[in-house]
Amino acid sequence: MQPIHVGLLGLGTVGGGTLTVLQQNAAEIARRAGREIIVSHASSRSLRMAPEALNRVTIMDDPFQLVVQPEVDIVVELIGGCTPARELVLQAIAQGKHVVTANKALIALHGNEIFAAAQQHGVTVAFEAAVAGGIPIIKAVREGLAANHIEWMAGIINGTGNFILTEMRDKGRDFAEVLQEAQALGYAEADPTFDVEGVDAAHKLTILAALAFGIPLQFSACYTEGIGQVQRQDVSNAARLGYRIKQLAFTRKTPRGIELRVHPTLIPEKCLLANVDGVMNAVLAQGDMVGQTLHYGPGAGALPTASSVVADIIEVARTLTTDPHNRVPHLAFQPSELADIPVLPMAEVTTAYYLRLTAQNKPGVLAAVADILGEAGISIKAMFQQEPESGTCEVPLVMLTHPVQERQMNAALGRISDLPDIADDIVRLRVESLR
Ligand code: HSE
Repeated sequence: MQPIHVGLLGLGTVGGGTLTVLQQNAAEIARRAGREIIVSHASSRSLRMAPEALNRVTIMDDPFQLVVQPEVDIVVELIGGCTPARELVLQAIAQGKHVVTANKALIALHGNEIFAAAQQHGVTVAFEAAVAGGIPIIKAVREGLAANHIEWMAGIINGTGNFILTEMRDKGRDFAEVLQEAQALGYAEADPTFDVEGVDAAHKLTILAALAFGIPLQFSACYTEGIGQVQRQDVSNAARLGYRIKQLAFTRKTPRGIELRVHPTLIPEKCLLANVDGVMNAVLAQGDMVGQTLHYGPGAGALPTASSVVADIIEVARTLTTDPHNRVPHLAFQPSELADIPVLPMAEVTTAYYLRLTAQNKPGVLAAVADILGEAGISIKAMFQQEPESGTCEVPLVMLTHPVQERQMNAALGRISDLPDIADDIVRLRVESLR
């Protein structure tokens, strides 16, 4: 059989990793794919690869020339971002080329358009590496769990954010210093605010929700909150209450709509997901037939991500001769079967809460807070107050509540922050039991 020719757009962390995997495991990959897979062309702004790795590769300055090369069968987009990635991918599709991408922003924001174009041209766009790096989670949700109604999914799907929270908790390290290390290790996005603000996780969650519930990709409806507000005292308060703080990406189908949200969350420390540390990622999926399945592995880094990219290349190579209408649908459900279920605004989402208030240490303050919560129908599940540090009359007041609708909690917190003896900077984190 003729070899498959791959054109690589981007030779950065993941592009370089992909070249390494394809070259190092070439024989094993050919055994699996049924034919040789060769990187014939590559385009990159800077060449950091060893020259011998690029011996048989034609380097092109213009990526738009690469996507129209007649001998390229599969275009692998690893440049990231939406511009010019969107145009390049659409041009490749228009040329009848299959596409593999690790670009979560591209899929979350432009996936609906890209998949429609791919369907029109009878080509496949594969994106396993876009979510959770080396974990084959797209395949698991799209195929392995296809018998189920997926009820909810909870994921730690940003390696950088998880690495930062873990180092802060275990070693008391400083946020900025750990972020710098994550950048040096190649985990962080080109713009690391995407990692710490939860945007990267929101891109990935948007994709997972579409696959789980058969809805179009709706990144703009995803609620996102970063980890910058998490302080070391909240991490230790959470531990005292039997929880860990994770940047959780959570999506659930409710009778009123879909919850789609990324925010720092307290989860029970006994839960496996709470013990996913460092750059590791994990996705917990609740299906009505299977129950819970947990998918765990490295969420970032050159070779783990390249492992997913190459799996997609092999999959595309295997399906080249199949009828385009009988391939696995891009978004798991047949395109005509996508559902028009609304994404719920956060005010309508119900969760339990962790609250940390800074109160003046005087009589009646706790009673006033408890009154407001009681009047709002919010029940306190656990509570403690720490002794004031010497020389101050402010005390941290920490509580866990039972589940309540966010609208009710917002109204109560508005009233609490108006109390003269409560400081304005109330810390409010959501809690998920994941049961
Ligand atoms: N910046 C991402 C992360 C890379 O840290 O998870 C993998 O998508």
